[in-house]
Amino acid sequence: MHVHHLLNNNSIANKFIAQLRDTSIQNDRMRFRRNIERLGEILSYELSKKLNYSSEEITSPLGISKVSVPKDEIVICSILRAGLPLHTGILNYFDDAENSFISAYRHHPNDDKEFEIKVEYLASPSIEGKTLVLADPMLATGRSFVNVMHALKEMGTPKEIHLVAVIGAEEGLKLLDDEFPPHTHLWIAAIDKELDSRGYIVPGLGDAGDLCFGNKKQH
Ligand code: URA
Repeated sequence: MHVHHLLNNNSIANKFIAQLRDTSIQNDRMRFRRNIERLGEILSYELSKKLNYSSEEITSPLGISKVSVPKDEIVICSILRAGLPLHTGILNYFDDAENSFISAYRHHPNDDKEFEIKVEYLASPSIEGKTLVLADPMLATGRSFVNVMHALKEMGTPKEIHLVAVIGAEEGLKLLDDEFPPHTHLWIAAIDKELDSRGYIVPGLGDAGDLCFGNKKQH
């Protein structure tokens, strides 16, 4: 897997990540969602450098301009619910992409810290031969990405896979490296060292879904 780690180089993305993590700022839900969306835009810009391009002649009022434009058929697939603002950011840039939504949540069968990832709802076009952009802001254990990719198999085999995440843990990256094809790209803003006993990223930012949309009742 090719890992593209945004915070390896200083940019305005550092500020957005800092605000997402900061307990004195992150409770402003509108800013929190918008910062995830902004990172989706920046990660999309970076990702666009690996797309396939074809040359087109564009007629401007004053002449003809040769421009290389992306030619890939993109499907953006986001994992509900925390993936929604990230999806919006990616779609802002790949505005003619097709869209796919899938639900994945942590189910605690014994009411303890152990959980399994349940994938239920899936609404997707065919991904056969297309460029799949799979988005989930928090890459913790990596099991959501893996289970979702498994569920997406009934939609076809993509030509290329780009995973997009905001914050990841090294353990999750390792699982993706083991489970996804070697030519997969991971576009990620920040990589943290570890997970806590509940599988949350440390230092991370907390529960991205709750910070975007409010608390949920556990089930
Ligand atoms: N999901 C989150 O929202 N946060 C984490 O730290 C891990 C998974």
